[in-house]
Parts: sequence; C-alpha cells; structure tokens
Amino acid sequence: MRVDKSFLKWVGGKGRLIPQLLPHLPSGKRLIEPFVGAGNVFINTNYDSYVLADKNRDLINVYHWLRDDLAGLINTAQSLFDSDINFYEVRCRFNCNITQPFTLDRAAEFIYLNRHCFNGICRYNQKGEFNVPYGKYKKVYFPKTELIAFSNKLISRPTTLIAADFRAAIETADAGDVIYCDPPYISGTKNDIFTGYTPHKFNYPVTKLLRDLLVHAVRRGATAIVSNSNNIIVRGIFSDFEIYEIDAPRSVAANGNRQPAKEIIGVLTPDML
Ligand SMILES: C[S@@+](CC[C@H](N)C(=O)[O-])C[C@H]1O[C@@H](n2cnc3c(N)ncnc32)[C@H](O)[C@@H]1O
Repeated sequence: MRVDKSFLKWVGGKGRLIPQLLPHLPSGKRLIEPFVGAGNVFINTNYDSYVLADKNRDLINVYHWLRDDLAGLINTAQSLFDSDINFYEVRCRFNCNITQPFTLDRAAEFIYLNRHCFNGICRYNQKGEFNVPYGKYKKVYFPKTELIAFSNKLISRPTTLIAADFRAAIETADAGDVIYCDPPYISGTKNDIFTGYTPHKFNYPVTKLLRDLLVHAVRRGATAIVSNSNNIIVRGIFSDFEIYEIDAPRSVAANGNRQPAKEIIGVLTPDML
C-alpha cells in the first residue's frame, strides 16, 4: 500500500500505522480530526470534506498558509533552509514573535524548526517559547514535494481549520460524520490516573472527558474512532467501544526499548449505543 508522507516530523505521527488504521475508518462524507498533528490520516484518506483541528496554533497557522499562499510559504521556507543561518537565531526570532502568531514568516520558521530540531519534537516552555535544541543533522531535507501535496489536498476539499482544544472540533460533529481521535496517549501509570483535571496535560480525567464527548457525538449519529495505548486503564475508559489491537513500531524510544508496542484502536458506531 502506498502511504503519503507528511512534510512534518511528528512525535506520535501515524505515518507507519496507516495500513493498519485505514481499514477501521468507515466511509462517510466528512472526517473530523480533533488532534490532526502532522496530518498523516488527512493526506491518506479520501473524504469529501474535513475538519482539521489541533490545539497547537503554530501548526494550524502553517496549514492556513499552505492553503492560502503555497508559493509564498515555499519561497520563505526554502530561503531559510538554504541560508547558513544559525538554528538558535531562527528559534530566537520565532520566540520573539509570539505576539504575532499568524504570520507567513512564523509558518516558515515552524517548518524550519521542525526539520532542524532534535527528533522533530515540538515542545514549548511555560512562556510559550519553543525550547527544543538543535538536532545536529548532517543533511536536512526540504520537504517541498510533501508541502505541495499537502497544499493540493487542502485546496481540493472543503476543509475547516481550527486551532483549539479538542472540544471545539468534536462539537461540530453531526450525523454521518467520522471522527478520528489521536490524542496524546495515557500510560496507565499512577501518575496519569490520580492527577486531577489539568487542561494542559492529557491524563485520565481528560481522556475520560474525550470519551464522554465522543459518546455524545455518536448519539448524534457520528462514528468515533480513537487510537491509544493498550493498557487496562485505556480499555476501561473506552469500554463502550469495539477494541482492536495493533502492533506499533516505536519512533522515539524513551527507554531505549525498540520492541513493537501494542496500541489499540477503539471504534464506536451509532448502532452500538
Ligand atoms: C499523536 S499527535 C497526532 C498525530 C497525527 N494523528 C498524525 O498522524 O500526524 C497528538 C496531537 O494532539 C495535539 N493535542 C494535544 N493536546 C490537545 C488538546 N487538548 N486538544 C487538541 N489537540 C491536542 C498535539 O498538538 C498533537 O499534534
């Protein structure tokens, strides 16, 4: 099966899992992705229209420019990649302009940082500053082909872009919609379970809230599909869902463990309620 690649490196990106994931996505008119990330599912599916959402507004800003001014974005990003500018100078510029979050320059800098920083990690400090160090790559690829393909896909389908918490996207779901959720996973450790509701951390209460909103959306006639880690806590939260196990190759092995990790895909359709 041919899998199209995103122009972004993204921790938790579903690129390598697409062949296992697609059979679980039913047909429908519109796909809603509340956690769109690098858009691997978006570019490898064929719905009539899309809602792409993520709480990372820098990411959604890039998608806006890809749709509205591909040539401008490619030129600005390419000249950054081709220059001998220091990584930390770009990062510093990016962090100085937090008050102007929706510019073309910022979108180009985001693509530059994604390709040059350590492992393509996207992390911000409390002040909202991007704080991932330089990745020290010998050669950095400019993903022009992938940017063009992504832009063509955005232009070819009516696509709503939302920079917000997952609630906003799920609220838009109606009868016949398909919602695919790929949230940050919860590990099932005590830390994830017993910490209280913290909107910035994806833990047990937030995952339960996600489940509740999905159940409401399915009552309205949508179908919900969710990815997560395979543990007893996740299975408990999504006990109403049909659960499928898949083997997931790890891209970033935090503990040096490169064994395949078991993930689950949960599916909830209106007839199951
Ligand atoms: C695992 S990634 C999604 C990867 C995506 N499926 C792909 O293949 O590229 C999870 C995404 O959820 C986003 N996210 C984290 N917390 C969120 C929240 N509360 N609401 C919406 N998006 C959130 C992150 O910014 C990240 O892009």
